[in-house]
Amino acid sequence: MPDLQIEDLHVRFSGVVALNGVSMEIREGEIFSLVGPNGSGKTTLFNCVSGFVKPHHGTICYGGLDLLSQPPHRIIDAGISRTFQNLQNVPYMTILDNVLLGNHSRIDNWETVRRWLSRDQRESEEQAVLKVLDFLGLANYEQKYLSGQPYGIQKLVEVARSLVSRPKLVLIDEPAAGMNDQETMEIAKIITEIRDDLGITVLVVEHDMSLVMSISDRVCVLDSGNIVTVGNPDEVKEHPDVISAFLGEGAVA
Ligand SMILES: Nc1ncnc2c1ncn2[C@@H]1O[C@H](COP(=O)(O)OP(=O)(O)OP(=O)(O)O)[C@@H](O)[C@H]1O
Ligand SMILES: [Mg+2]
Repeated sequence: MPDLQIEDLHVRFSGVVALNGVSMEIREGEIFSLVGPNGSGKTTLFNCVSGFVKPHHGTICYGGLDLLSQPPHRIIDAGISRTFQNLQNVPYMTILDNVLLGNHSRIDNWETVRRWLSRDQRESEEQAVLKVLDFLGLANYEQKYLSGQPYGIQKLVEVARSLVSRPKLVLIDEPAAGMNDQETMEIAKIITEIRDDLGITVLVVEHDMSLVMSISDRVCVLDSGNIVTVGNPDEVKEHPDVISAFLGEGAVA
């Protein structure tokens, strides 16, 4: 499995500098967290890696593949998937169909006809979805409509969609946002299992510092599009700029 190399990324939106020369390497097999205040550029970095935003300058390589020259569906084909901070679920579809969407990185006419003709294909895709739902503790949810499900379940469906394409690297944007304590502990366990049991490298954006510090191999702190520091949780916790700007003394156990 390849590493993800990000070099000197610059992104501007009109007058706003979202990323100001950001470089980092996400190593195969690690849980790497991106933290920082609102508007510091975390989601923009996800959008660059997944092909939704083209930076003005910089490079992103994954196992020798130049991601910036690829459209989003090719990036998924290369083994990188993502969740969205604002859930991209379809409320009036079943959970099964919502997760199946993660397999359809590219729907063109031929692909649509092939899937329609091939019951085997549909069955094997459904089996893959059931496995992912089972892994996430959502066995027997497949025929339920998403509409009306608790927010915690909807967030897990978003994660399920990102896993069903069998990625090698998954980008998870704020998995614990809006979750209660119990759900946050559950999501911490799930992220660890995604890496340990499925062998998927995880890049996660999250504001819950206790969660970040408990699951991450390395943490990168962003502020106004600049990297403040990168290191293991203990190094980051003790970094003076991080303590003064983000944590406050004794904020993280
Ligand atoms: N599509 C866009 N058009 C204009 N400005 C944008 C766009 N996307 C992001 N920005 C701006 O770029 C900056 C970085 O935004 P980004 O969404 O990357 O922050 P973030 O770190 O993910 O914040 P949060 O923690 O609130 O999700 C912000 O000032 C934001 O308003
Ligand atoms: Mg964001």
